[in-house]
Amino acid sequence: MKNENHKGYGRRAFALKSILGLGGMAVASTAKAASTDLEQVGNGLTLPNEKRKLGDLEVSAIGLGCMSMKSGSYNPPRDKKEMIPVIRGAVDLGVTFFDTAEVYGPFTDEELVGEALEPVRNDVVIASKFGFDFTNGDRAGRNSKPEHIKKAVEGMLKRLRTDRIDLLYLHRVDPKVPVEEVAGVVKELIKEGKALHFGLSEVSPTTIRKAHAEQKVAAVQSEYSLIERVLENQVIDTCGELGIGFVPWGAVNRGFLADKFNEYSRFSEDSRFSSVPYFTPEAIKAHMPLLSLVREWAVRKDATPSQIALAWVMAQKPYIVPIPGTTKLHHMKENMGALSVKFTSEELKEFRTAFEKIPLVGVREPETALTDR
Ligand SMILES: NC(=O)c1ccc[n+]([C@@H]2O[C@H](COP(=O)([O-])OP(=O)(O)OC[C@H]3O[C@@H](n4cnc5c(N)ncnc54)[C@H](OP(=O)(O)O)[C@@H]3O)[C@@H](O)[C@H]2O)c1
Repeated sequence: MKNENHKGYGRRAFALKSILGLGGMAVASTAKAASTDLEQVGNGLTLPNEKRKLGDLEVSAIGLGCMSMKSGSYNPPRDKKEMIPVIRGAVDLGVTFFDTAEVYGPFTDEELVGEALEPVRNDVVIASKFGFDFTNGDRAGRNSKPEHIKKAVEGMLKRLRTDRIDLLYLHRVDPKVPVEEVAGVVKELIKEGKALHFGLSEVSPTTIRKAHAEQKVAAVQSEYSLIERVLENQVIDTCGELGIGFVPWGAVNRGFLADKFNEYSRFSEDSRFSSVPYFTPEAIKAHMPLLSLVREWAVRKDATPSQIALAWVMAQKPYIVPIPGTTKLHHMKENMGALSVKFTSEELKEFRTAFEKIPLVGVREPETALTDR
């Protein structure tokens, strides 16, 4: 008999898939992980130990996005004392991939990630991003001039309490600096050992190719989820063609696909959500059928909605590694349970046929995938 939670998803979805991780290890048809194993984690529990490759860089198949912790993008800024256990708890769950950026805070999230991961530095992969100017501690436009990048990286290394950044991303393209020049600077940083791998964020296929020709790109990070699917227009395939990993942010659609909101959710003007076109009252209403579909699949697959959203992005390509952001360890555990949710190719087709019928509001037009953001 299913032990169901208040929203009707099988409790096994939470208790077994997220904590024990032993259920539903059906064979994935389209996404074959680099390696899948079971691992005894720190607290004596067993979780799937799935790894994936971003170029030559091996990471846990799910990472942790640390953006909203200290900088409070989607929530009030959280205290360091509360967030360090979340990051360290994720390590105990088998997460080895942590995402931050100079601009988150600015600076405060890097400091948090550096402090939290210092004791396990050699066991984890830290990704961070440069690309902005700062005036009096506030973000002030894009800047990828070579000297600025080198100076930024020195600050990042200090805040992250490390001598190398495993994955160094260009956060946003600076229209004043050709991406080949940026790639050349990162190439030098890699030679010096200050960065180990190069990444790009929110870039077009043309930019990916130009940068990759100068310095091998390990990962492209951009928004991708069941709701925001614009990068299916060439970007994800370009990564596949060039042997580059793809790191979707927003895979749980900023909480919407994790069933965090309802039709009546509204955001204050100063909230980051209020400027997001798919969080207007009309868009939220329009996307409720998609959320209902995700809930149906959650019941069908004995999972939770966030697990369905994450398992779906991972099922699209074996080189996709989502980095759901959370400030709560129980959400991280739940999200890790997505590793036990596998779709057959027939299920993926059936799911896609159903969700493609649902009109979306506030999402990007297909041609926008072909230009840098
Ligand atoms: N490259 C870029 O330009 C870019 C842009 C944005 C973000 N990012 C990176 O990507 C990461 C993830 O993106 P994101 O944070 O924008 O979007 P996201 O991962 O889709 O959503 C994060 C939100 O979902 C909620 N959530 C996560 N798991 C949940 C669960 N199981 N149940 C209920 N709610 C859940 C979190 O709230 P709780 O805290 O309550 O769990 C948080 O508010 C960021 O942390 C950042 O590192 C990169």
